[in-house]
Amino acid sequence: MSSICLGINPAFDASAVLLIDGEPVASIAEERITKKKHHSYSVFNCIAKVLNDYAVKYEELDAVVVCRHGLEECLKNEESKIALQKLKEQSKQYCVCESHHLLHAYSVYYSSGFRQSSILVMDGLGTHIKYLSDLGACPIENESIFSGKYLGTAHESMTIYNAVGHRVHPVLRRLSTHNTGQFSKEDISIGRLYSYVSKKIFGSRFDAGKTMGLAPYGKDKDWKRAIAISRNNVCVKSSFLQEVDSTSKSDVMHYADLASVTQIAVEEAVLFRAKQARMLTGQNYLCVSGGVFLNCVANNRLVCDSGFKNIFCISAAGDDGIALGAAIYAHVEVLQQEYEPKTFSPYLGPRTDTGDSANYPEGMIYEDRGELISYVAKKLAQGHVIAWHWGRSEYGPRALGNRSILASPARVGVKDEVDPKIRTRG
Ligand SMILES: [Fe+2]
Repeated sequence: MSSICLGINPAFDASAVLLIDGEPVASIAEERITKKKHHSYSVFNCIAKVLNDYAVKYEELDAVVVCRHGLEECLKNEESKIALQKLKEQSKQYCVCESHHLLHAYSVYYSSGFRQSSILVMDGLGTHIKYLSDLGACPIENESIFSGKYLGTAHESMTIYNAVGHRVHPVLRRLSTHNTGQFSKEDISIGRLYSYVSKKIFGSRFDAGKTMGLAPYGKDKDWKRAIAISRNNVCVKSSFLQEVDSTSKSDVMHYADLASVTQIAVEEAVLFRAKQARMLTGQNYLCVSGGVFLNCVANNRLVCDSGFKNIFCISAAGDDGIALGAAIYAHVEVLQQEYEPKTFSPYLGPRTDTGDSANYPEGMIYEDRGELISYVAKKLAQGHVIAWHWGRSEYGPRALGNRSILASPARVGVKDEVDPKIRTRG
C-alpha cells in the first residue's frame, strides 16, 4: 500500500471514511452502529469500524483529516476525545480542515469523474466565520452581515467553487446567521428555511423528507412569499418565517400550502444558484453537495432546467459526506498525491451477506434471484414487512437498493406499523 488516509466528520451525522491508495474502501456513519438517528459529535465507533474492517492500525495511517465544524462539541465526548487524541499522537500526520463547505466540495468533485466543473454547496450551516482562514478568498454576497447584530453567529451557508484539475477555489460565498437561543430570522440559509418549516409542520427539523412528500398536496404556489431573488442574490424573507410561526396546528391544508411554497422556493433558489455558478465559472458540468441536495425534486429541476451538460450529486450529500471530503483532502492536500477522478460507488458500508449458509434459517436460501423475489412478493401480499439487505450498505441516508424496508401500501395501517416500530432508530 502506498497511502492510507482517514477522514472524519465530528459534527452532525458523524462519520468516518478510509481511503487506501486514493480509493474509498470503507465508510460508515456513527448512527449505523449506535442506532441513534443522526448521531452527532461522537466518532469513536465509526473510526473503529472502518479501521477494523481493513485491519489498519493508527500508526499505519499516513494522514488523518478532521473537519473543524463540530470538533469542539465532539471533544466533550470522552471516548471520541481519546480516539482523536490517539490518532493525533500515533498517525503520521494529523490535520484539521477549517471549511465544512470545502470538504463537501472535495467529496463531490473528486467522486464525479469530471476533470473540471462548477461546484455548488448549499446546506443549513457550515463552519463559523471565525475559523475560515480563506474568508477573504472570494466575494461575500451579503457583506452587510458584518454590520448586523447577529455577526457573531455567522457561518458558511452557500459557496460556489470553480474546479479545474486539482485546483478547487471559491468564487462566491453567502453567510447565514444562527442563534441557538433566540433563533435569528435574519439571513437564514435555504437549508435552514426547509428545516424551520419541517419543524413547524412535523415537530422535528429532521423531517425534511416528509415536507417534500407533503408539498404536492398544497395548492399555494406563491414561492415569492418565501424568498426574494434579485439579479445576483437570493435570500429568505423573515416575513415568511413569521407566517410559519403563526400557522395553526388545526389547519392541515395550510400546512400543505406551507410545504408547497417552501418546496418551490427551494427549487427556485437552487436553480438560481446553479445558473449563477455557470455564469461565474463558465463551466459546462456541475457538482452539487450539502444537505439541500438531498431534495431529489429540486435536483430534478437542476437536471431539466439549469443548462449544464451533466450534473453529479453524491449519495452522501448531507454531512456524513464530509468524512469522504476529509479523506480526499488528506490524500490530495496533505500527502500531495494525484487523485484521479473516477466513477463513485455508494456501496462502501459493511457487508452482511457473506454467503455462509449457517447464518440463514433452514429453507431460506435462494440460489435463484427470481425465486427469492416471488417469495418476498408473496410475503408482502400476506401483510408482512420485509427488511431487505443485499451486498454492502450505502454511504449516505438514501436506501439505494441494498438496504430497504418493504411493505405493501395496499394494507390499511401499514404506515403506522412501519414508522414507529421499524424506521425509527434509537
Ligand atoms: Fe453541511
